[in-house]
Parts: sequence; structure tokens; C-alpha cells
Amino acid sequence: MLSYFPTGKPVSGRDLVGRKNEIQQVLDLVKGGQSVILIAPRRFGKTSIILSVLDRLRREKYLIGDTDLFNTTSKADLAEHIIEETLKNDRIPIRRIIKNLKTNLITALKNIEIKKIIDTYEVVLSLADKGADEERLLDEALDFPQIYAKKKKKKMVFSYDEFGDLFKWNGRDLLKKMRAKLQRHTDVTYIFSGSQESLMTRLFLNKAEAFYRFGRIIPIKAVPVDEFKKYIKETYARLGISIENYLIDNILKKSQCHPYYTQLLCQLIYFSVKGEKNRIEEKDIFSCFEEVLLKEKSGFDNIWLSLMEKKNHTEIISAIAKGMSPYNLGKLGRQNINRILTSLEAMGLIERIRRGEYEIRDRFFKECILRKYEE
Ligand SMILES: Nc1ncnc2c1ncn2[C@@H]1O[C@H](COP(=O)(O)OP(=O)(O)OP(=O)(O)O)[C@@H](O)[C@H]1O
Ligand SMILES: [Mg+2]
Repeated sequence: MLSYFPTGKPVSGRDLVGRKNEIQQVLDLVKGGQSVILIAPRRFGKTSIILSVLDRLRREKYLIGDTDLFNTTSKADLAEHIIEETLKNDRIPIRRIIKNLKTNLITALKNIEIKKIIDTYEVVLSLADKGADEERLLDEALDFPQIYAKKKKKKMVFSYDEFGDLFKWNGRDLLKKMRAKLQRHTDVTYIFSGSQESLMTRLFLNKAEAFYRFGRIIPIKAVPVDEFKKYIKETYARLGISIENYLIDNILKKSQCHPYYTQLLCQLIYFSVKGEKNRIEEKDIFSCFEEVLLKEKSGFDNIWLSLMEKKNHTEIISAIAKGMSPYNLGKLGRQNINRILTSLEAMGLIERIRRGEYEIRDRFFKECILRKYEE
């Protein structure tokens, strides 16, 4: 099917624009047994890169596994995910088996296929045990990829997407436990990813942190402008729509080559002209830019509300949005301003350009902030 600027799910193939170098770099490192940490703001394509890497590795006969900490609800759930993903390499339908074991243990155990799996991987039985201790279960699960890889006599690459979300549970203890276990895994290499830049950098670069020097950090940047230009031109052409080069420049200037916003803007432009005309005009870009803002507004409003609950945060971020130095708000006191800047940075909302100079990370959030003062 002809794709028209997909959004809302990981992208692959030609829709994963400008990431060849990053994919190759990750592949080279993990094949060499070096774990990797991908850091990028939200919707920069971390998951897409991970999935492409894992797909390549699978085709090269590596064992693979992929868990997403954002979508795991408890430690028991994480344990189940790790084991499920690992056994997927054998095409074992673990969820179905667990369901069978939970509904009727005796009958399920009579099933030869299930019996064989449990004999080989005892941990599956623990997963089906409603009264199992979740800490113990996770202990077993964390080591499971290594046990499995060793048994299969193959190398495995396993990813923990949105690793920073670990902190939703007692993160520190879990982190220590994970490090102690994962560093002993001689047959498994890990890929971690995270959106909270300052948290991720601290976890992997700070001597005092459990994951200090565990792997190589790869920051993911915006998509290179030339590759996005080519992709946009070709995709519209495939859809039978023409667009002049200066208008593509205009789109990319508005989206700042942010992968998700660029796709969304291009997609909305496509829908707005589809069936009406086969040429994009400047006014289409303008109105669809407004539509993107409208679509994203509720998310931004929630961030804004959470900032309002913190003292002086909205004042500082507004100053930055307006291009002013936050230190112009001298009445707040330098120490106080520094504390708020650190807090905004930790939330991933601002980025330090150089000493004393900051920028709002998300171009559309910035626009929303600026408009608050026009309302
Ligand atoms: N390299 C790329 N080329 C084109 N579009 C991309 C690229 N990377 C990401 N996108 C766009 O961004 C969307 C989100 O991609 P993905 O889920 O991989 O990002 P993510 O960083 O994992 O996001 P999240 O922070 O939500 O987990 C995709 O649906 C696609 O629209
Ligand atoms: Mg993701």
C-alpha cells in the first residue's frame, strides 16, 4: 500500500528517513558485544531505529528481544514481557500458554507441547502462578535472556525501550539489581533508549549511578534536511501531487526537521488537497501548521498546567520562549532561577544552548506558549 506520511506508530523502510548511519552504528556496536544507549526527545524515532536494528539482526540469525518500559504496568508485567519476548524467538505463544495454565492447570499440564515447554523453561510456570512473588519473578526474568541464549548457543540482542520509565517503581534498587545481573550476561547485548535526556545521560555517565559506563551513548538528532526534502518530494509525487522546492523548505523550517511533526504536517497537507487539486500552495502549509498546533494543544495544555503548579516555572519558560534571558527575571534571585532551569531541563522542556542561554525544545510547544500572551 502507498504510505502517505505515517504517524503514530514506528516507521520502517523508506518512511524511516535519514537514519542509515545511526542504524549501522548501532548494528556495528551490538554485534561487537557493546551495549548502546539511544537518547532523543519524544517522537524522534527511537523505537523505529530499535525495531529496524532488531529486524536486521533477526534476519542475520541473532536472537532478539524488545520490551518497552512505558507500556509495562508492574514488575510482574515486565517479567512476563521479558520472558515472552525471549521465547518469541522459538515462536512459543507464551500468553496463550499462561492463560491455559491459569484457567486449568491440570488440563494444561496434560498438553504435551505445554509440558515440554515447562520442562525446559521452568520460569513459565512461575509466570502462571497468581501468588508468585513479583520481585523473585523479575529476578528470574532479568536473567532469562542470558539463560536462553546460552542454551541456544547463539548471541542475543535485547532492548529496553523508554528505560527512564523504570523510575515509576522503586527505580534505584531495581537499577542496581539490573546492572548486577546484565553485566554478567556474556551472550546478550543490550540497547536502551530514553526520552528524558538529562536523566538518561546521568544514569549512564555519572560515576555514582548504577549504569555508569554500561554502554555507548548515541544521541539521535533531527532528520537531515536534504534527506527529508527528497522524501517529501518523492512521497507527494507518488501520491500525484506536486510541490515546489521552496515550499518544502517552508515545511521543514516550520517543523525544524522534527521527524514526527514533519510527517504530521505533510500528512495533513496531503489530506487537505487530496481530491481538490494536485498542487500544494503556501496557504495550505499555513493552515495545516495551525491544524498541527490544534492537534497537539491538549498535550501542551497538560504540561502547562503541571508547570503552573510549580513556583515561577511558567514565568521562566515564557521568558525563554520570547527569546529573553531567564536571568532578566532578576527579582526571582539567581539561585532560584538556576534551580528552575535545572528542573525545566530535567523535564526535557528546555535545552541549554550556551552559558545563560536556553531554547524551548519543542517548536510547537514554544508557539503555544507565545500564543498564550496573545489570547
Ligand atoms: N526517521 C524518521 N523519518 C520519518 N519519520 C519519522 C522518523 N522517525 C520518527 N518518525 C515519525 O515519528 C513517529 C514516532 O516514531 P517512533 O515511535 O519511532 O519515535 P519514538 O522516539 O520512539 O517516540 P516516543 O517518544 O513516542 O516513544 C513516527 O510515527 C513517524 O511519524
Ligand atoms: Mg518510542
